Amino acid sequence: MTDTTKSATLSIGGQSVELPVLSPSVGPDVLDIRKLYAQAGVFTYDPGYTSTASCDSTITYIDGDEGVLLHRGYPIDQLASKSHYLEVCYLLLYGELPTAAQLEDFETRITRHTMIHEQMHNFFRGFRRDAHPMATMVGVVGAMSAFYHDSLDISDPWQREVASIRLIAKMPTIAAMAYKYSVGQPFVYPRNDLDYAANFLHMCFSVPAEKYEVNPILSRAMDRIFTLHADHEQNASTSTVRLASSSGANPFACIAAGIACLWGPAHGGANQACLEMLKEIGSVDRIPEFIARAKDKNDPFRLMGFGHRVYKNFDPRATVMKQSADEVLDLLGIEDNPLLQVAKELERIALQDDYFADKKLFPNVDFYSGIILEAMGFPTSMFTPIFALSRTVGWVSQWKEMISDPQMKIGRPRQLYLGATQRDYVDVENR
Ligand code: CMC
Repeated sequence: MTDTTKSATLSIGGQSVELPVLSPSVGPDVLDIRKLYAQAGVFTYDPGYTSTASCDSTITYIDGDEGVLLHRGYPIDQLASKSHYLEVCYLLLYGELPTAAQLEDFETRITRHTMIHEQMHNFFRGFRRDAHPMATMVGVVGAMSAFYHDSLDISDPWQREVASIRLIAKMPTIAAMAYKYSVGQPFVYPRNDLDYAANFLHMCFSVPAEKYEVNPILSRAMDRIFTLHADHEQNASTSTVRLASSSGANPFACIAAGIACLWGPAHGGANQACLEMLKEIGSVDRIPEFIARAKDKNDPFRLMGFGHRVYKNFDPRATVMKQSADEVLDLLGIEDNPLLQVAKELERIALQDDYFADKKLFPNVDFYSGIILEAMGFPTSMFTPIFALSRTVGWVSQWKEMISDPQMKIGRPRQLYLGATQRDYVDVENR
């Protein structure tokens, strides 16, 4: 990783500090400032981490200028079209595509862990029925620490493995239960004869009173949505999981922290916000009004599903998602979906507008996913839980990578302090 032929020199306060430059396998070089404070007595300042690599990783690579996303080297469009979610989970977790036998073993291990502890059903019932499913998920996933005591010891590689499998296997069950609870229907137990995506649809949409057949078109579309969200390097929720786990906290607590972070509308919550925005726009003729609002500095409105911290080009996930939206609506016989029309026209107009072109704002993964999810029958409140369950493997893979690193340190950023300097306490009667 270290390229000894390259270094950078920082001149500060009359002294020169030599900083090593690290070369990644692909991507821009990285200035190693770990010894900067010790050598020069200064910190760096980078709110929002726009120029800071917080860790090294071998899992996911993004080239934001070219619109490239690779998992363990494999392009996302190839994985979305040729692979499937559990195979991608294996790839993210273990670094290589599985052989047929390895995949079968992995799928069996996941399948054997789909049920949740029966006592957890009572825990769900403590929530209000109108709770957002993300609120329920944050609570229930955190509560897994209270139910699975035999996978909390992060110093034991076997317990780490069991915790990973449990999280990936149980997250669809938890998300589906959060949904069922919110609509007042009975919880549906997992069916291990179904694949991962089909089982999730079964747990969401079947009811005891009727026979439910999973539509294979929908389960394939669901699987692709899971795959497109599986990991995205050091985004806000993944960094949250890494920071939480750097203290040695247990995996269930850390993933609950990731879910909480994902919920925000600038991150995973954008899929819900985007569909609500498309509905508010309602028809193609109102698009210019919303484009004008997005450009107005005095209006906090933003085009949801547009823009990205890293992508300054098309989000490759959005390209696949757009194709999927067309395919799914077509296969379901939903012609002339007004929301899809608004979305496509909004994209077309925005991409021709100098404001969006100059700022390099393109549709992101959340722009088209909501249209597919709504066509599948999900309410908007389930969009972000579906993102969370898909991203669990990414969080878990990044967590495992970090914990297995013997050089792991607690995450502890510094600050640029601008508050009062030391002063003496004044008694209340003298203030
Ligand atoms: N609509 C209108 N203007 C925008 C938008 C947008 N969606 N996104 C960014 N801008 C403008 C912003 O006002 C700023 O302008 P100026 O330089 O004049 O102040 C400029 O573009 C740069 O924006 P920023 O907020 O400094 O960029 P960022 O990298 O901090 O934010 C973002 C990235 C994704 C939070 C932002 O683009 C955004 O809020 N998008 C809408 C929410 C969204 O779709 N989020 C999903 C992200 S992808 C899924 C995921 O991984 O979570």
